[in-house]
Parts: sequence; C-alpha cells; structure tokens
Amino acid sequence: RPARFTVHPDFAVGDVDPRLFGSFVEHLGRCVYTGIHEPGHATADEAGLRGDVLGLIRELGVTAIRYPGGNFVSGYKWEDSVGPVDERPRRLDLAWRSTESNRFGLSEFIHFVRSVGPQAEPMMAVNLGTRGVAEALELQEYANHPSGTALSDLRAAHGDKDPYGIRLWCLGNEMDGPWQTGHKTAEEYGRLAAETARAMRQIDPSLELVACGSSGQSMETFAAWEATVLAETYDLVDHVSLHAYYEEIDGDRDSFLASAVDMESFIENVVATCDHVGARLKSKKRINLSFDEWNVWYQRRTALQPEEDWQEAPRLLEDNYTVTDAVVFGSLLIALLRHADRVTVACLAQLVNVIAPILTEPGGPAWRQTTFFPFAQASRHGRGRVLDVRVDSPTYDTAKFGEVPLLHATAVRAEDGTVTVFAVNRGQTEPLPIEVALSGLELGAVIEHSAVADADPEARNTLEDPERVTPHDVPGARLVDGVLTATLEPLSWNVIRLG
Ligand code: AHR
Repeated sequence: RPARFTVHPDFAVGDVDPRLFGSFVEHLGRCVYTGIHEPGHATADEAGLRGDVLGLIRELGVTAIRYPGGNFVSGYKWEDSVGPVDERPRRLDLAWRSTESNRFGLSEFIHFVRSVGPQAEPMMAVNLGTRGVAEALELQEYANHPSGTALSDLRAAHGDKDPYGIRLWCLGNEMDGPWQTGHKTAEEYGRLAAETARAMRQIDPSLELVACGSSGQSMETFAAWEATVLAETYDLVDHVSLHAYYEEIDGDRDSFLASAVDMESFIENVVATCDHVGARLKSKKRINLSFDEWNVWYQRRTALQPEEDWQEAPRLLEDNYTVTDAVVFGSLLIALLRHADRVTVACLAQLVNVIAPILTEPGGPAWRQTTFFPFAQASRHGRGRVLDVRVDSPTYDTAKFGEVPLLHATAVRAEDGTVTVFAVNRGQTEPLPIEVALSGLELGAVIEHSAVADADPEARNTLEDPERVTPHDVPGARLVDGVLTATLEPLSWNVIRLG
C-alpha cells in the first residue's frame, strides 16, 4: 500500500529560521588549512581563500558558520590568532594532537564569512575550558566594539577598522564530555556559563547566546545536565545546544537508515527539559535549540588522532560519504525541518574535508560529496513555513528502534506559494508509492521530482570520479485534483516541488 499524508496551510509547525542551514569550520585536520585556506592554490584570492571551495560553499547555501571549534575551542587563545601573521605563535592543539600555526585566525575567518556572501554570518564560540569570563569579554571587545578602547583600537591597528558585528555566540563546547579540555560538572559549567553570559550582556544586551547542552542523547548526564545548566542560565541565554552523529554499526543498515528517529526524540526530550525548567521558574520565556553539530560520522572507522603527533593540518576525519549516507543525512535534515518551531539554529559539522560535504586535494580540485546535494536542495527549497506532516506509512523492523515508518517526510511552503516535499524511502529493496493530499494550497502541477539514489548503495564521489553520484530527475510524479502521487526509489532522498 502507498504511504500517505495530508497537508493544509492552516496546520503548520512553524517558520524556518535561515540559521537552520548553518555549518561549522573548526581548526581540525584540513578543514581550514588546504580546505578553505590555501595560499598559492591556483584559485586562491589575495587572502589565500580557495575560490573553487568558496564557489561550492555558496552553492551549498550555508548561513551561520560556527568557529573555531569544537573541541579545539577549549584550548583556544583568541589573541594568538590576530595581528601580523608572521608574528603569530605556533601552539599545541591538545584536542587534535596537532600543531596550530595560527596563520588563519579571527580576521581571516570574518573575511571568509563575508566572502561567502550576505546570507552567511559568523557564530563564534568562546573558550570556557581553559579560560573564562575575562577572556570572553576581551574577545567580544576586540571583535564587536566600534573603537576608542584598547582592544577595539588594536583590531583597527590590525587592519580591521569596522567591527565584526558577531551576534551569535556559543558559551564553550561540549563541556559535559570527559574528553573536553577543562571538562566540567553541570553545576560548575552552569555557573560559569551564567557569569560569562551576564558579563557579555553587560557589553551588549542584544547578543544571542547558546549554552552547552549534551554531546549526545546517550551521555550519562543527559537531561539532568540541561536542567542544571538551564536553572542557572535560563534568563541569560537564548538557545541550548545539541550534538549528534550517526553511523552504520556492525552492518545494521536498517537501524542506520532510521537514525532520524533518535534525532527527533533527542530534540523532543531537550524541548521537554527546557520547558520543564521554564515552568519551574514560572517563566514566559522560551529557550530554543541550537543543533550546532550534526552529521553522519564514521567514528569507529576513521582515526580521531593523527598517526604522528603534532603535525600541522593532518588528514583527520575525512569520511567519504556513500549514497546510503546521503539518504540518512537527508532524513536528518527532514528531522530538523520537522522541528523548525524550536530548532532555530543548526550547524552541519563540518564544512570542508572534516566529515564534510566538500572535499579538496591540496593543490588540486575540490568536489561535492553525496551529502552535498540534500543540504543544497534543502537550503534552497526549504525556506518558508513547515507544514504539519503526519505520515501513515508501511513500516519495517529495526534492531535499534523497533517498527519504523518506511517514509520519512516533511513539506515546506515558500512565500511564493510553492510547496516542496522532502521525503526519504528507508526501504532498501522496494520502491515506495506515496500519496499526498494537498488541500487549500492552490497548486497546479509538479515542477520537478529529483532524487539521490543509486543501484549501488555504496556509490560515492572520489578524486578520480567526482561526479559519480548526482541528483537525477524521476519521472511519473502527478498532481491531480490536489493529490500528489509519486514513487520513491528504494533507499532514496527525494525533493518534489509543486507550484
Ligand atoms: O566535529 C568534530 C568534533 O565532534 C567537535 O570538535 C566536537 O565538538 C565533537 O565531539
């Protein structure tokens, strides 16, 4: 039987915040060096930014770009990363057992974000691992204060007269994780985050602040962590963070394809925790979610530390994604969109080379991974109002999540009235017919049905064959009397546009 759902413009989840299509640049492996920054590369501009990579980033459609970490930020000395490049110190990066040259720093990052385009904005993390309130304030003054103080004038002396205008700040990174330099208990972190937030707001009350939530739903401290941290910070922050990575474990592809079940329950559990704290505090304020690290990541297969210690920009976490990964990835995007009322920031971790949609070779080309396409399509067509989608779908059995619907879907209505259905068929062998009743939407026809799917679920794009996997048109979708009928190929990510 077909999978079905009904949408109506009066039943909506909420409006998509463009920041849902954020990404993440960490000083990790080759994300920065030979990723976005490679002076001497044939396409590099005078600042050393790779033009080929910038072009792909624009095509990807990323908005908020989180920086400089990640685990890296917990040892970050921002002042090492500014001023004349040749005078910047080389430092040990404890998080990734690498050497940080600081040849790319804060100013270069801001220049990079501006080069991406007006839709991009910086999302800056402060170090609450080895540092604290004073250093966060100094960084804020250097970055955002117009002029007339020691640090704002220093920025101008370094060549950046105009302030950077960073609105969105993360108060540390994964402070619940024992691997984090300067790891803290929820009580310790909650106090430090509150003090830092209060002080940063003394400079600028209009900043938007993100408190660290859990590094994953499976953390032992999950939910208690959020409740304790928010009890301290509720009135001082706007968002709490979530991080989640998924991978196929021991060949259990059925469970892997249902990863979004975990992501959706993670989101709903964090929403419940935030609202519980708000209720206890009798607060009218609502805390939103910043899902500021999400992706497929083969943590069990790829080295987390370089083979040889303290190298500069070693190859780390360079996952090469398959069609299956792209389908799971698309389903994670659907999960985020389905919760657009509360997930108002999300960052695909990461942007280039490191678990990324874009890969590069030093001195060579840059190309799109399979996961590039769902992100670019969702960022392009997933702007507007998310409609409430409740699927009635055949199910399949998974070891990890029990019975799971074969269809995972959402629908977004753009301002111009067009509607885009994003849908994944989790079934590995059978096509899945769908029927969507679109009432009250005044739609005339199917504009396109595009899919990422392949006879080989392991197909991927490589240096030798960079366009092996691309989206293709799917024939057969029809819109008759307000009912869309289409067939989703086995193991596929689909974008069906109606206008
Ligand atoms: O994105 C890679 C790493 O994953 C980040 O540095 C860290 O925050 C997370 O554990």
